[in-house]
Amino acid sequence: MKILGIETSCDETAAAMLQVPSTKFQATNKFQILSNIVASQAAIHQKYGGIVPEVAARKHIETIIPVIQGALSPQFQRPDLIAVTQGPGLITALQVGVQTAKTLAYVWNIPLVGVNHLEAHLWSHLLNQDTRYKIQETILPAIGLVISGGHTEMVLVKGVGRYQLIGRTRDDAVGEAFDKVAKLLGLGYPGGPIISHFAQEGDPDKIIFPRPMLKSPDFDFSFSGVKTAVKYHLKNLIPVGNLSQAMINDVCAGFQQAVVDVLVSKTVIAAEKYRAKSVILGGGVSANQPLIKELSKRTKDSALEFFYPAPEFTGDNAAMVALAGFLNQKKAQPGNWQKLAAQANWSLA
Ligand code: KG4
Ligand code: ZN
Repeated sequence: MKILGIETSCDETAAAMLQVPSTKFQATNKFQILSNIVASQAAIHQKYGGIVPEVAARKHIETIIPVIQGALSPQFQRPDLIAVTQGPGLITALQVGVQTAKTLAYVWNIPLVGVNHLEAHLWSHLLNQDTRYKIQETILPAIGLVISGGHTEMVLVKGVGRYQLIGRTRDDAVGEAFDKVAKLLGLGYPGGPIISHFAQEGDPDKIIFPRPMLKSPDFDFSFSGVKTAVKYHLKNLIPVGNLSQAMINDVCAGFQQAVVDVLVSKTVIAAEKYRAKSVILGGGVSANQPLIKELSKRTKDSALEFFYPAPEFTGDNAAMVALAGFLNQKKAQPGNWQKLAAQANWSLA
């Protein structure tokens, strides 16, 4: 079975063809990625220090057909199913992918399934090359943590499609905080990779930024406070242009450490509370190596399994959308394209 995935929820126009060995999910299932095309708009949004929705939507319109054409090449084969990100995301951006997917489903007369972008991030580790997975009972329930530029959600995962929301950010998403701190430091967009790069040379204990809601009894997060603390710290220093590289490195390391401490600590406490057997991480911020390192250590100490995507599946891509389409294929029927509409706000649970 071949699935065409389409993704346009944010600033990546992406299409991928995924081959799954059978329509049933079995222990021996291994996903084969036949193509995985991602056209990033990051360079365009860089000058604004963040994503401009109207600019993103226009760029998706220009790029979507060549990207799909690339994913279907070189030997064109009609997919058996189309999976498209239906939400959450920027509404005008989502609509480009959704309308394109509906058109293809109509002209090819094949079923279409709308996918939740956060669910696609959640299961993205199943695409890892070394993975031969079934979604085993033994790893469930799991604590799922989806952290990206637009979203921060912690869910109790009881199975595919069975999620209970247990925590979310009350203000900025994790990736958004990285992006805003990078902007404050004049480092460009997206901020996550740049900050973690400079943090490698910095001292994480030199500047101790606050750890908001670390000790709150719930599993919600707040990251705008850390960003504001960085802002005031910089204000008390010399103007940004005169910051030394060593100072920038220390701010990056201190900020990253504060974020990692809160994320890891609350995830492990949630796993204990809900008697989870594993932790599943996904989303753009799961590319953060100190976070992976710390979560690997702490989950091991607590006898929890830990699953996270390979670097190429952390950011937005359409292979994970095709995979989520496969997991939701019972929702797909020929002709169902007529009812599908983009949904800007759509929680995982
Ligand atoms: O999942 P994604 O590609 O798009 C959304 O769905 O939002 O996530 C993008 C976010 C950006 O905010 C980016 O700064 C962040 O992921 N990010 C990182 C790292 N790489 C990307 N954050 C921290 N550390 C990284 N290494
Ligand atoms: Zn994403």
